[in-house]
Amino acid sequence: MKKTTLSHLQQLKQQRQKITCLTAYDASFAQAIDQAGVNIILVGDSLGMVIQGHASTLPVSVEQMIYHAQNVQRACKQALLLVDMPFMSYASVDKALHNATRLMAEGLAEMVKIEGGDWTLDIIHALSQRGIPVCAHLGLTPQSVHQLGGYKIQGRATEQAQHIAQQALAVEQAGASLLVLECVPAPLAKHISQQLKIPVIGIGAGQDCDGQVLVLYDILNISAGKKPFFSQDFLQSTGSIQGAISAFVTAVKNQQFPTDAHCIG
Ligand code: KIV
Repeated sequence: MKKTTLSHLQQLKQQRQKITCLTAYDASFAQAIDQAGVNIILVGDSLGMVIQGHASTLPVSVEQMIYHAQNVQRACKQALLLVDMPFMSYASVDKALHNATRLMAEGLAEMVKIEGGDWTLDIIHALSQRGIPVCAHLGLTPQSVHQLGGYKIQGRATEQAQHIAQQALAVEQAGASLLVLECVPAPLAKHISQQLKIPVIGIGAGQDCDGQVLVLYDILNISAGKKPFFSQDFLQSTGSIQGAISAFVTAVKNQQFPTDAHCIG
C-alpha cells in the first residue's frame, strides 16, 4: 500500500470516498491499524484519558506527545501520521512554531492538529506557510472542557451553528489542510463538509462528513467510564482486534457507520 498523502486525502474527498482515521498511542496497535488500511493515524492527546487515566486531556505534555508519536511512527507505513498539539503548546505563534517543529522533527509527525477557531487563525497561517500541514479541530474542543462546562454537544443553537460554520471557512482560508468536527449536529456538519474544499473528518458529527475518526479504545470497548454515544463496539461482533479495526474501516467506507443512533439530528 502506498503512503497516504494530503493530495490522496483530497482526492478521496473529490471522489466521495470516505476517509478513515483511528487513534493510536503505541507501535503494536499502530501496526494493526496501518495494516487494516486506515488512512490517518491520530496520536491524540486523548492519551491523557485512555492511557494515563486523567479526567481530561489537559495534563498531556509535548514530551509525552513526542514519545507516543515516535512509537506509533515506527509502525506507520501507509497511514498519514497526525499528531495532536497538547494544551497550551500553541498558545502563541512562537510557541506553536517551536512545538510543532519538535513534533515534526522529533516525533516525525506529518501533520499537527490544533483545537479552536478564531484565535488559532494566525497560528494556522504561520505553521502552514512554513510547510507544516495543520488539521483544525472545531465543535467540541476537549482542551476547552472547563470553558465549555463539560463534554457537551456544540452548535445546537442557530447562532452557535453559524459561528462554527464561519470558523470552518476561516480555518480553511488560514491554511488548514484538514478539519476535525466533533459533536455537532449532523446537518451542520453536512453543510460544512459541502462548503469546504478540505476534507472534514467527523466524530459525533453525522454521516455526511468526508471521513470518520474514533478513539481506538472506544471501538474496542476498553475505555474506562461512560461510552460516548457516537462510538460503536466493533470488537464484540468480530472477536479480534484486527477484525474490529477492519470492520470499522469497512463500515465507514460503505457508509454503514455512523448510523442515526450515533448522530445528533
Ligand atoms: O485526541 C483525540 O483523540 C482526538 C479525537 C477525539 C478526534 O482529538
